[in-house]
Amino acid sequence: MTLVDPEINNIDPLKLVGSELFSIAGNISKLLETGNPQLSKIARYYFQSTGKQIRPLVVLLLSQTINKMVQTPSNNPNLQFDFTLIDKSVPKDLDSDTLSILRNTLISKAFEESNNIDLYQPRTNDFGLTIFPTQKRLAEITELIHTASLVHDDIIDNSETRRGKPTTHQVFGNKMAVLAGDFLLARASISLARLRNPEVVELLATVIMDLVEGELKQLKNTQTNNNNQGSISLPNEDTFSYYLLKTYMKTSSLFANSARATAILAGSSEQVAEIAYLFGKNLGTAFQLVDDLLDFTATESQAGKPVGADLKLGIATAPVLYAWQQFPEIGKFVERRFSEPNDTKATWDLVHKSDGIEKTRKLVIEYAQKAMCALCLLSPSPSRQALLQLTNSLIYRKM
Ligand code: FPP
Ligand code: MG
Ligand code: MG
Repeated sequence: MTLVDPEINNIDPLKLVGSELFSIAGNISKLLETGNPQLSKIARYYFQSTGKQIRPLVVLLLSQTINKMVQTPSNNPNLQFDFTLIDKSVPKDLDSDTLSILRNTLISKAFEESNNIDLYQPRTNDFGLTIFPTQKRLAEITELIHTASLVHDDIIDNSETRRGKPTTHQVFGNKMAVLAGDFLLARASISLARLRNPEVVELLATVIMDLVEGELKQLKNTQTNNNNQGSISLPNEDTFSYYLLKTYMKTSSLFANSARATAILAGSSEQVAEIAYLFGKNLGTAFQLVDDLLDFTATESQAGKPVGADLKLGIATAPVLYAWQQFPEIGKFVERRFSEPNDTKATWDLVHKSDGIEKTRKLVIEYAQKAMCALCLLSPSPSRQALLQLTNSLIYRKM
């Protein structure tokens, strides 16, 4: 199933925000200067091989998209669109196929609109391509918080590789890695305070809290439903809600709240801030669902980290939950957290035999559609076009 032809990649985001994106690693490195060279070295370790930098990229492109709207008050009729349509409160009379068609129509319209504008206007003449210094700082803060959480996550997961290299704790030991993660978070907090915007501070502090709670929810694993006979029942709506809430907390919250913060720093209306939040929330969920899929479909060299890792950690993600509905015997593996010698292999094979991977991909498309629909409510611009493309291409990412 294709939303928009993935070949439609007629805009290069690096032409729009390349210089800002490339300066992020250098700026972060400066922020990590301390009187303790060993601490600085460890904290900088993951930044030596830059990752996808997807969170800063989204903040930068969204800044351009929204700043343009704030500078040029828009009478875009799309803004009258009832955007609750794209979130939870789906009208009862619309079945999911109709809703999907509606979303696709809106998305195609947005692509068309964006294509009709001059894609590469000279930067100096286009006020709309401005990114405020506070938004650039915010982009760095998202990467700092994300990296801090990865350093700690790799200790919790006892992962050996990240970005194709040994993990921080493998190289420097657990104690130093914990402290380096704390230090990254502290530097992020100082940068955040310097934005002098209490609402933005509260949003990003909430993200940090959500990250911890999401990780805790994951440690508890799937909400298991013991039936009265004492055995585990098949995954139901509650199981999926728990999984999606955990996904929101561990991944989508950072995308969602930094998108809202981007709008707040632009001085935009509450409505635009809410649209930005919905965009980030749905994009983040699609992104994490693809991550959970890649754990079953990518090769280790594509991922730059071990694959099949979730099962080994006792975690049942969407492909497993769907497969379990089809093959109830998976329940006993989930219940004992894939702890017996053949459990991970048996579950892996059943997931590949089931339609779990296909169903998860459908779910990814649904969330990506919602994210793109939120973008449709913002004024067309080259940056909005780049975000639409980015969301569309995330569905097909291989790493
Ligand atoms: C990666 O998930 C981990 C996260 C998205 C969040 C981890 C959060 C914590 C460790 C809580 C502490 C937070 C802070 C801010 C210090 P994953 O293990 O599924 O992904 P992976 O395959 O890339 O390891
Ligand atoms: Mg991990
Ligand atoms: Mg983890």
